Amino acid sequence: MYVKLFAAGKSGSLELANRIVMTAMGTDMGELNGNPSDLTISYFSKRAKGGAGLIITVITRVNNIHGVATPRQLSMANDSNIIGMKKLTDKIHETDTKIFCQLHHPGRQNYSALIYVWPMMVLLEKIVPGFSKIFAPLVAFYKKLIAVTFAPAVMAPSAVPYEYVR
Ligand SMILES: Cc1cc2nc3c(=O)[nH]c(=O)nc-3n(C[C@H](O)[C@H](O)[C@H](O)COP(=O)(O)O)c2cc1C
Repeated sequence: MYVKLFAAGKSGSLELANRIVMTAMGTDMGELNGNPSDLTISYFSKRAKGGAGLIITVITRVNNIHGVATPRQLSMANDSNIIGMKKLTDKIHETDTKIFCQLHHPGRQNYSALIYVWPMMVLLEKIVPGFSKIFAPLVAFYKKLIAVTFAPAVMAPSAVPYEYVR
């Protein structure tokens, strides 16, 4: 039944070992400067070893000043990101898996708190290592806030026969 799924595939000049594609999913595990962290590399490498034919990376910003969409996203905004990104792609290419980079700019829908602020954060982290950890409680707070905000809407459908709510 799934013969095709595991069969090699070709799209243009791209040859895939199978048709299992991992869609882009922001993991927010990068370094502050947008380089892949060891965790990022290990995460994608495990998916490659698991047999994905193609991995599409997370939203990867093209500008570090007004293009930051999430704090720990990857960046290809300047040449200093090349070494880290090459480390990631080389690791994936130890397997048969192919990897796409998803370039991204959030446009006018960006969080205003992140615009222009991020380069300052990266600088501060260099001067005061560990500085960014002060945001951990804030992240936890936001998670709680999101849970509280969504809770009534999530609970309501239990009384309404939707097939699926996302
Ligand atoms: C946690 C999470 C992060 C995601 N991040 C991205 C992303 O960085 N870029 C993107 O194009 N889509 C992103 N998506 C969307 C997924 O790639 C996928 O298109 C979406 O989940 C729809 O697939 P589904 O209909 O099977 O759920 C994300 C989805 C999830 C759940």
